[in-house]
Amino acid sequence: MICKYSFGTPFETEAVVQALPESDQEPRFLTVRSRLPLCFSCRLGEEEAVYGLGESVRGMNKRGWIYENYALDQPHHHEDTRSLYSCHSFVIVSGPERVFGLFLDEPGRVIFDIGYACRTEMTITCVQNSCVLYEITGETEADIVQQYRRLIGRSYLPPKWAFGFIQSRWGYKDESDVRQVAQGYRDRQMALDGICMDIDYMERYKDFTVDPARFPDLAALAGEMKAQGVHLIPIIDAGVKIEAGYDVYEEGCEKGYFCTDLEGKPFVAAVWPGLVHFPDVLNPEARRWFGQKYKVLTELGIDGFWNDMNEPAIFYSKTGLDEAFKSIREMEGENLGLHEYFRMGDIIRNMSNSPQDYASFYHSLSDGSRVCHDRVHSLFGYNMTRAAGEELDTLRPGERTLLFSRSSYPGMHRYGGIWQGDNKSWWSHLALNVKMMPSVDMMGFLYQGADLGGFGCDTTEDLLLRWIAFGIFTPLMRNHSAMGTRQQELYSYPMWETFRDLISIRYMLLPYLYSEFVKCLLDDRMLFRPLAFDYRTDKRAREIEDQLLLGEGLMLAPVTEQNRTWRYVYLPEEMKLIRMKKAGQWQEEILPAGDHRVEIRLDEVVFFIRPDKLVPYTLRPGLSVAETDFDQLSILHFVKNEGEYKLYDDDGLTRDLSGEDRITTIRLTADGTLTTSGSKTVRL
Ligand code: GLC
Repeated sequence: MICKYSFGTPFETEAVVQALPESDQEPRFLTVRSRLPLCFSCRLGEEEAVYGLGESVRGMNKRGWIYENYALDQPHHHEDTRSLYSCHSFVIVSGPERVFGLFLDEPGRVIFDIGYACRTEMTITCVQNSCVLYEITGETEADIVQQYRRLIGRSYLPPKWAFGFIQSRWGYKDESDVRQVAQGYRDRQMALDGICMDIDYMERYKDFTVDPARFPDLAALAGEMKAQGVHLIPIIDAGVKIEAGYDVYEEGCEKGYFCTDLEGKPFVAAVWPGLVHFPDVLNPEARRWFGQKYKVLTELGIDGFWNDMNEPAIFYSKTGLDEAFKSIREMEGENLGLHEYFRMGDIIRNMSNSPQDYASFYHSLSDGSRVCHDRVHSLFGYNMTRAAGEELDTLRPGERTLLFSRSSYPGMHRYGGIWQGDNKSWWSHLALNVKMMPSVDMMGFLYQGADLGGFGCDTTEDLLLRWIAFGIFTPLMRNHSAMGTRQQELYSYPMWETFRDLISIRYMLLPYLYSEFVKCLLDDRMLFRPLAFDYRTDKRAREIEDQLLLGEGLMLAPVTEQNRTWRYVYLPEEMKLIRMKKAGQWQEEILPAGDHRVEIRLDEVVFFIRPDKLVPYTLRPGLSVAETDFDQLSILHFVKNEGEYKLYDDDGLTRDLSGEDRITTIRLTADGTLTTSGSKTVRL
């Protein structure tokens, strides 16, 4: 059951798709501590865990830290960080005596203190003194997630090719770089489905332009790549460059489609191109206009995009820069002691993404009113991606387009996926990637993943191997790295054959991964789950933070530490261990419930199958999703009595997901009798 309570003057975010009546009672689980500021509190029992908050630092159980939901560009995030790129204000409190969910639909700053000031208390502060609170009661975490997801609507479905391996790097500067990457993979028979094009494909970082010198014929290049099974995925940034003669800039100014300053003039900020204006994506007309611009690229055969810098990130504003120069000039010639020296550094650092800048521009809403950006800050990424999502549906009728964004808010999950933002080539960020999977998934962002290998800093071969071994299972499987860091393409490492073999495992498991993804989407379920959600009464399972359940049949236990060739794995019940080096080659072993010391060498992937579960795989994985055979299948299985699996499959492009012919039912009994009904051929 969901109860809705409104406080203050909430802003209509369009996160929710169900109209619910307003409750006339006080909230059941939260106490309203004060209305100015709007602050709620809730006691936490000794054994209660708090799950959720989507993209955020620290554990799956969020207890023990303070988080601020306010979308921020955070390339240097670590344990201390309070805000990341996305804002996902949904949590589940789960303990032996009660389980309930809370969704705070509020796009201004929301602070979740989850046992930080006081270990046994959670307080939630809505800085703008408003919110719509949804309290969700149910029997289990899964039930609560399902109700939440029905409240916010069905998740985005990418094309099937987007489940293939994608190579990216900030720095592919021209056609020949792109060709070289495709060839690097092809020459070594390594699977590849996509290459991301970062900002350098544009002309002077202008959205919806293509640099004519470096990419003289993008349509031809896109066609040439597609013939090899590789899709090009260009980036689109939030800021539109201010440049006379640039059509997007001029049209936006003329039609009043940019965010404005206090005086009503287009607001000036700076990002990659230097000075920019932000499209007013909260305004439906401006949103439509911005979304239509993607046509420039879809007409060239592009069928995938990533939306970036849409918190929106601001390097500096004109006012901020003027003030910074002024302050620094005043310091010139002074004796800079401790305080002055630190202040000088702060002046430069605080110019980016400053609260003053976010409070100094406005959105024009469809009813003619204006709202200060700060009030609705966390909605920008959502609406930029919605702009694209809504229009791509008409620009590419009948076909799905790959779309993922850096910043997001609930509701955006209907239009695109997300990546987990700029991480680093750190072992701790691999561990964070693992922990974030279920939290982000819970929010409805099923299509997600982190920059494999790490974005910032230099990666190492062993870290990349471990990260790829985990990335095999994440829906978005993209290797991405920052300009100036060490090369990260998998073929450039001495152990490239191992990388090739690890990736082949992804393609082998695609029938299961795709089927589980779509089934979770259709039933509003979670694809990645903490063990605590499925083994609710197992105290030990409730504390496991470094293992995950994937779909109905698999448990993962990735290695996330340097120089480790083994790890402890906890099995809540008897399971079958699968040790795989490449597609089609594995060893298996049945392990009893309990703790195990499991060897996992650098060149192998280990995962576990739950009792009476079947995991279909293809007998013929290809070098792209299109080349992978989804019809001739076999199964990995651990059948003690009987296992049944309903395999979902489709053409990977159409948006309509109905039709019984998409399901093949596979049954296997302990005596080895296999029966199948449906269109697929399955053999043992
Ligand atoms: C941002 C993005 C990153 C991209 C870079 C350059 O930092 O998060 O993925 O490579 O911008 O466009």
